[in-house]
Amino acid sequence: MTDFRAKIAAYIAPAADWDARELAQLMEIPPQAELGDYALPCFALARHWHKAPQQIAVNLQEKLSELPPFIRAIKTQGPYLNIFLDPAYYMATAVKEALDTQQVPGQNSVSDQRPVIVEFSSPNIAKPFHIGHAFTTILGEALARIYTHQGYRVLRFNHLGDYGTQFGKLIVAYERWCNQAELESDPIKELNRLYVAFHQAAKEDPELEAEARLRFKRLEEGLEPETALWKQFRDLSLREFNRLYQRLNIQFDNMNGESFYSPFIPAVVEMLQRKHLLEESEGAQIVRLDEYKLPPCMILKSDGTTIYASRDIAAILYRKEQYDFQKNLYVVGLPQSLHFQQVFAVLKKAGYDCADDCEHIGFGTVRFAGARFSTREGHIIELEDLLNEAVAKSRKIIEENNQQRGGDMSVAEMDLAAERIGLGAVQYTYLRSGRERDIVFSWDEMLNFEGDTAPYLLYTYARARSILRKAGFTSLEPDLQAGLSSLGSDSELQLGRLLNTFAAAVQQACQANEPFMVARHIAQLARTFNKYYGSTPVLNTPDLNNRQDRLELVKACCRVLETGLNLLGIQTVDRM
Ligand code: ARG
Repeated sequence: MTDFRAKIAAYIAPAADWDARELAQLMEIPPQAELGDYALPCFALARHWHKAPQQIAVNLQEKLSELPPFIRAIKTQGPYLNIFLDPAYYMATAVKEALDTQQVPGQNSVSDQRPVIVEFSSPNIAKPFHIGHAFTTILGEALARIYTHQGYRVLRFNHLGDYGTQFGKLIVAYERWCNQAELESDPIKELNRLYVAFHQAAKEDPELEAEARLRFKRLEEGLEPETALWKQFRDLSLREFNRLYQRLNIQFDNMNGESFYSPFIPAVVEMLQRKHLLEESEGAQIVRLDEYKLPPCMILKSDGTTIYASRDIAAILYRKEQYDFQKNLYVVGLPQSLHFQQVFAVLKKAGYDCADDCEHIGFGTVRFAGARFSTREGHIIELEDLLNEAVAKSRKIIEENNQQRGGDMSVAEMDLAAERIGLGAVQYTYLRSGRERDIVFSWDEMLNFEGDTAPYLLYTYARARSILRKAGFTSLEPDLQAGLSSLGSDSELQLGRLLNTFAAAVQQACQANEPFMVARHIAQLARTFNKYYGSTPVLNTPDLNNRQDRLELVKACCRVLETGLNLLGIQTVDRM
């Protein structure tokens, strides 16, 4: 998408004898439309040339007497040079680029093709996939899509929590209390029940804890039956997780869980020893991180078993060697922020620069009607239940709307729309605010067709598609006959600006690792579109060329809305 700021700067640069990139940075967006679309404050130039800024502005205006087609006028106002874009040119460019069949709106390219690893989801085997895991899953997938759109080569990693002392507990509980039929029909529920049962029993009988530690140690040593049991728990859990990933349209490039990295730990320990970084503390092996103002990082427990942090250290070294990542991003909740600081610091201390390319992308907590979630107490909300309920509620609304309209949708169409709207409502709730903010779920809010919600965005899209259908367009292919020279009203310009700056919004979202910046942009586009459509009789435009142009504008809005929603992982429907 044309960067008009850069285009103007490039035009002014020779006359100002100044670097175009710097000029672009100096340019401002004036507070009032009377002052143009962009303004160049001339203070920096004035200081350099030892002249009054007013004088510089006047001189520049004189030198820039021959205007390119995209600029309608250049005026001065005191120390400012005010630039007025040509509205028809601007609108035609914005619409044409949004409808370019060669490119998805806002797509970019980057030269560095070393991969960006986005690690997300990473649920724990044998534990329910709750609405906190949904946060990393939905946020991570959106980031992966945004990076891909920016032209990066993205690898999606799922660092499954498939290792650790809890597996010793699970094995102990399984052998004592497992119900095989339950395990087959609802494995995670049964495994979680066993886990809870273990903790209850261990309160009375502390011996169980010791046995669990022993069983985990045997698992680390690759002994049976521990290894086979562990594998069974893992396979059963993955079966459940994969169902969710499929439903959310997520495919991982790498599912190496924590267990995968366990064999690499001895080499890590050896390396840390060789560099004299390992110290003994109460029987455990630690790395001190005083100079980073961090508490020490534990590498080996006193019984010799490995822990979470050492597996993460091994994983980074493995990923660097295997993939030579340019970035390694961890989409993990904010409570683990200290953990990642320690892991990165250990590597930094050991002299690995790739530690600087690792980043923890934290996010807030999720609540529903007051309660927080913890696996041990059992009152958790599972993502699957949340999705099912959102879809069921959406289905009801669609059915009512359909009845009111006289029933133009088939049952299959309604089912598909309900699935997408329900999922979208949940996804959007996670993505519409800055990721570090806490989320409180509320049905009324997330399914409100008039709020800042996915149903509102999807409805706007469907409404626009219905306008296009009435005009005979079933696709968003551009109409090559349209001249696109008649657009330029205030509301059209507002839409044009949102179309044109979509690329910048995606870029910013990528730089800040904040998908909400895409959400915010398309939400504004949707609101502006609804206002436009409410006040402009698009289908009944008297002048036929003008009507054609307006319909192209509607298509362009659809295409950008759809692209933005897809970047958030949300799929559109043409009718709802
Ligand atoms: N499985 C962990 C949990 O659910 C998250 C793993 C995060 N990733 C990592 N590389 N440590 O809390």
